[in-house]
Formats: sequence, structure tokens, C-alpha cells
Amino acid sequence: MDAAAARRGRSLIDVDQLTPAEVHWLLDTARSFEEVSRRAVKKVPALRGRTVVNLFFEPSTRTRISFELAAKRLSADVVNFAAAASSVVKGEALKDTVLTLQAMGVDALVVRHPCSGAPGVIDGWTDAAVINAGDGMHAHPTQALLDCYALIRRIGCLQDKRIAIVGDIMHSRVARSCIKAFTMLGAEVVLVAPPTLMPAGLPPETRFSYVLEDVLEDCDVFYLLRLQTERQEEGLIPSLREYAAAYQMDARRLGRARPHALVMHPGPINRGVEISAEVADGPRAVMLDQVTSGLAVRMAVLFMALGGKEGGDAESG
Ligand code: CP
Repeated sequence: MDAAAARRGRSLIDVDQLTPAEVHWLLDTARSFEEVSRRAVKKVPALRGRTVVNLFFEPSTRTRISFELAAKRLSADVVNFAAAASSVVKGEALKDTVLTLQAMGVDALVVRHPCSGAPGVIDGWTDAAVINAGDGMHAHPTQALLDCYALIRRIGCLQDKRIAIVGDIMHSRVARSCIKAFTMLGAEVVLVAPPTLMPAGLPPETRFSYVLEDVLEDCDVFYLLRLQTERQEEGLIPSLREYAAAYQMDARRLGRARPHALVMHPGPINRGVEISAEVADGPRAVMLDQVTSGLAVRMAVLFMALGGKEGGDAESG
């Protein structure tokens, strides 16, 4: 059984469930699906007859819409669940919501939840494949995979590249999954944040700095994070203005970086805080490539989770 076959029909809670071979299989499969989005009729029958529910308990633009488009391009049926318009507001428990959806025969649940660990718990309640679309401060595996995909498209491979993750690392599920994925593919990660936003208990080998200027000249990629105000206690930064003065990637700082250095961000960006408008709209910003990559990578993740069309493959259609 190959790496992909071993994973088919399984849930994806974080990237550390995957071996490097499985990550490469996913990225290769995403590459083969990318072409579907350039067709006049953007559809293949790979998941025809399967049902995917987007179960989102937190706001999302990129992740929810790209999972919906990904499922539709694979010909799955898609249902979008919005907690605010559901029986959750009448007090229905998460477990009963999941069991209700299972009773309708859904094949996959794409889950975003404010509580770290919720998708893993849901996975224990249902036979449906569960895909973590971001849980609390824990993990955002498809974001990390799409970031690897977007970077590999730009720079060939991640081996021996140095990637600075800059900003609110403490509250960032994206940072946690990206650290695992980038290092799995051979990159060196350096964390840059004010002391109040740097997570405690980092492994001793972790490279970090409290000063962005310290790493400006020796990184290939600057991966910026927004301040996760929805998860922060108050008082972790003196003010937005002072935070921006110390950590914003602006044209002056990018001008000191290596000429080939790229700027990434998972979105949503806050122009004028962690990134200047000039950098966000400039040629070294990769954010829209990340979004494009997200569609292909989420097609691959759904294909893996649902095992694809019987007897079919990623090229079918
Ligand atoms: N990067 C990301 O998860 O964006 P959304 O919150 O818009 O899905």
C-alpha cells in the first residue's frame, strides 16, 4: 500500500499525522488538480456522490470558500453549516450536531472551531472523515500545506531555506502547523515576536528573536501573522502604533532583506499593522498565490480524505 492509499478515508487534524512522503503525495496531487481550475468546465468526477459539510463555528473567507469550491470541483455535494443559523443557537450540543449530520450520511466534515482540539474530539464521534479547518490556537493543517505548495511553486523546494515567522506566534494555529510543515520539508524556521507574543516552552533548538532587524538580512521568506485579537488577553502590546513600528514589514525593511526574499501571510491581512500597503501590493508578496494554492491543495486533501472515486484517480475527468 502506498503512502496515499494508507491515508485515504482518514481524517486530517494536523500535519504531524502525515509523513513527508504523504505531504509530497498531497502536493503532487494538488499539482495535478490545479489544471482543473483552468478548464472552461472546472469539474472532475473524482468525488461524485460524496457529501461534504463545512462546519464552521468561526468566521472565514479563504478557508470556507476554497473548501466549498474544492469539493464542487471534485463533484461532491457540499453543504455549508453556519452555527448562527443552526440549532446551536437553541442550545444543541456539538456532539448532537455532529451525530445529526452523521445520521444524514455525510462523508466529510470540514471543521473550524474556536476551541483547540474540537476537530479531534469530533473525529471520535463520527465515521465521517474530519478535516481541521483551524481550531483555536492549535492547528491549521491545510493552511500549512498550501503555504508549502505556494512556496515550492515560487522557489523550487524548501530544503535549507530560512523562513522567519513574524508576529503573534503565541495565539497562532497557523504558526504551529507551519513550523511543523516547513521543518518537515527541510526549511529552518526562526520565530520573531515581542516577548509577550512568543509562546512559552519552545524546544531548546528553536531559533527566535524579539527584534525583526536581527533576521532581516538572512531570511528567504518572511511569513507575517496578524494580531489574533479574538484570542488575546488585553495588554500584550503597548499599542498598535508601537507594534507596527517594531514588527511591520514595510518597504524600508524589505529593502534591507535579501533581494529574492518573499513575503507571505495567511490572511486576513491588516494593512498598516503587520504589513504596509506598499509591501502587500508589491511583487514580493505571495498572498494571492497562497489563496490560489489553497484551492488545489484542499482538492487534494478532500480527495485523500474521501478516497477518491472508486477505481479513479486524481487525473480522472
Ligand atoms: N487563512 C485563513 O484561515 O483565512 P480565513 O480565516 O479567511 O479562512
